[in-house]
Amino acid sequence: MTQRAVIDELMTLVDPGKVLVDPASLEAYGKDWTKHYPPAPSAIVFPRSIEQVQAIVHWANRHKIGLVPSGGRTGLSGAAVAAHGEVVVAFDAMNQILAFDEFDRTVTCQPGVITHQLQQFAEDHGLYYPVDFASSGSSQIGGNIGTNAGGIKVIRYGMTRNWVAGLKVVTGKGELLELNKDLVKNATGYDLRQLFIGAEGTLGFVVEATMRLDRAPRNLTAMVLGTPDFDAIMPVLHAFQGALDLTAFEFFSDKGLAKIMARGDVPAPFASDCPFYALLEFEASNEAVASQALATFEHCVEQGWVLDGVMSQSETQLKNLWKLREYLSETISHWTPYKNDISVTVSKVPAFLRDIDAIVGEHYPDYEVVWYGHIGDGNLHLNILKPEHMTKDAFFASCTKVNKWVFETVQRYNGSISAEHGVGLTKRDYLGYSRSADEIACMKAIKAVFDPNGIMNPGKIFAPE
Ligand code: MLT
Ligand code: ZN
Repeated sequence: MTQRAVIDELMTLVDPGKVLVDPASLEAYGKDWTKHYPPAPSAIVFPRSIEQVQAIVHWANRHKIGLVPSGGRTGLSGAAVAAHGEVVVAFDAMNQILAFDEFDRTVTCQPGVITHQLQQFAEDHGLYYPVDFASSGSSQIGGNIGTNAGGIKVIRYGMTRNWVAGLKVVTGKGELLELNKDLVKNATGYDLRQLFIGAEGTLGFVVEATMRLDRAPRNLTAMVLGTPDFDAIMPVLHAFQGALDLTAFEFFSDKGLAKIMARGDVPAPFASDCPFYALLEFEASNEAVASQALATFEHCVEQGWVLDGVMSQSETQLKNLWKLREYLSETISHWTPYKNDISVTVSKVPAFLRDIDAIVGEHYPDYEVVWYGHIGDGNLHLNILKPEHMTKDAFFASCTKVNKWVFETVQRYNGSISAEHGVGLTKRDYLGYSRSADEIACMKAIKAVFDPNGIMNPGKIFAPE
């Protein structure tokens, strides 16, 4: 069968006009936010129903064609990149909220529901969907589940995994599995739902998800604190965690703040310049909590851990303080950053930071380095900015050389080479720094059960056999 005939057959499986092969669509849907891989899919297909997804998977098995799932394409690991003639399965047309149960506090979503749409739906019903990050305006629930998305509220609410009550997935064999049936308690053997969360579409595609909601937070209040050095951030975290229930604890460096200030649309937090900043958030549900926060701030100043600080007094101020952190990723994307997303347990952060900082100082002396991240979870984002004059390829090649030192350090601290961005293509060749050979062999065996022909997001997490 010619490739044309194979694509013609695909067209019969979905609604008219729902297979695209024009160059602009192939370019747009064949990639995520990573900029290193030239997209080269053979077609983009937009299923409208679970049955259509199953038909596409059966078709792909018949013709041994790789399928790449595509949500909001905001991923940072290349997991949604189709660089080798795969067919991209885009979930944009499966974007409905199907059901809401106020007693269970659950919402059943199609995979193409935008994260912000779910957050807004929860708010409209007096509830809260707590997984949040800068790309929530375009990322989709299916992609959040595929990557087990984290973000800025993990310290209090955990990752996406914690909020998935039930899943429907189509496996690489085309079976439809209904996993956990939204139950709170279900002690009936292996929890396959959890296996599909964070699997980056390599076992099957999420075609429906029931997400849990929480009570809405009361009077969220943020503080931004300037610290004299990296080392001061962790005692500040410790002091505030001892005094308050934090909903976030983030950090960024002066270089990151300078990039945000250069945009011209975000107010400075305060007049003093500090090398590092912590952004923390809590529910100021009554006066006593706010006083406790201020007393802790004063304690941190007395200890010399904090040089200056500000506490939000209104919703607008809260939003403006968050912009200092949330706009960072998009703002520095202009410099095509080489991104590292590493983590260790919180207790190891100070020593780990010192070691990583020494490696960065030694190996990247000529590059601008922007640190930020979810330091309250032990998760650091290390971004190396590309100098304007350098080509992308030369820059990435030079950064890749440093991976060995960074990842050996991560391994020595029992950390993760990808805390929340996933493995995809960017971290695939380094998986052995975080997972043992036996673990990787088990992962491959699991993939073979659900996807014996290796058609589901081939080449992601590990290289094809
Ligand atoms: C963030 O924390 O801003 C996101 O993980 C994106 C990024 O690391 O750039
Ligand atoms: Zn992050």
